[in-house]
Amino acid sequence: MIETRDLTKMYGELYALDRLTVKLESGDVYGFIGPNGAGKTTTMRILATLLTPTWGEATVCGYSIYNGAKDIRRVMGYMPDFFGVYDDMKVIEYLEFFAAAYRIQGPERRKKCDQVLELVDLGYKRDALVTSLSRGMTQRLGLARVLLHEPQVLLLDEPASGLDPRARIEMRGLIKELRNMGKTIMLSSHILPELADICNKIGIIERGKLLFDGDVQSAIQKVRQRTRIDVMVGDGRNAEAKAFLEKEKGIDGIEHKTEEDYLLVTLCEGLNDGSFIAEALVKNGFRVKMLKEEAVNLEDVFMGITKGITN
Ligand SMILES: Nc1ncnc2c1ncn2[C@@H]1O[C@H](COP(=O)(O)OP(=O)(O)OP(=O)(O)O)[C@@H](O)[C@H]1O
Ligand SMILES: [Mg+2]
Repeated sequence: MIETRDLTKMYGELYALDRLTVKLESGDVYGFIGPNGAGKTTTMRILATLLTPTWGEATVCGYSIYNGAKDIRRVMGYMPDFFGVYDDMKVIEYLEFFAAAYRIQGPERRKKCDQVLELVDLGYKRDALVTSLSRGMTQRLGLARVLLHEPQVLLLDEPASGLDPRARIEMRGLIKELRNMGKTIMLSSHILPELADICNKIGIIERGKLLFDGDVQSAIQKVRQRTRIDVMVGDGRNAEAKAFLEKEKGIDGIEHKTEEDYLLVTLCEGLNDGSFIAEALVKNGFRVKMLKEEAVNLEDVFMGITKGITN
């Protein structure tokens, strides 16, 4: 649905985008993650045919950005990171204005506008002035706007930026809904944790270069190959358990987190099943109160990849 090959954009000497090659299949939700200035917006603007690359290829639904701009705009919805809203316009008028621009005519227009308003949960703000909407609502209205012409492909540039935690969760829910409708979506963010559960693929980009491209699980593995297990035993015997486990095979290291009072056990390379720890502890008279594989800190993964730890 979206394919780029060696896509490059230079501003003078600066490589805003450096030979980007990515591929999104139908139904993919691709998280494009990178710090400020990484090249996310540049990529999206090129795909949306608003910016020409210095060189490289890109197609959307098979149409080339070079000679298929008209077709691309028909099948794609692009939500920019900043968009102006118009003063003195009601929510419904705002949408009707864009629907008209998409040549949606007659009674169909009103129907379509109401439909997208419902989808983004803004039906109750239908007759409010756009300037009276909160940041989160404005963002949802922006999304409604790009859904009017029922595009198959969506480019969402930081759809959750500036939103409070609740609005972020709602925006995620909305994107999941779009995913379930079968849309192919590319969305950008500064942070990986935000995207991990809605994306099936991620790309991590920094200074124009794609540092990682694949699924979330592989990103985690790339950065951290060892499995870590949190262990807690009863009767205040964590320190004792640590000394005991240090003699066990298969364990590479143990850290006693004294504040929360549990043990962080790192398994040897290649091992990912920590159940032998429970067995050994129980056999030796410890009461195992907790044993669980450590939840992956996605922020660490992101930092690891962008700091070039894997390169
Ligand atoms: N019109 C322009 N002229 C010169 N340099 C530009 C222009 N537009 C973007 N750049 C540069 O290109 C690089 C990539 O910018 P881009 O906006 O794509 O980053 P981004 O990943 O979207 O960042 P952010 O997270 O801040 O939105 C930056 O170094 C930026 O300064
Ligand atoms: Mg940007």
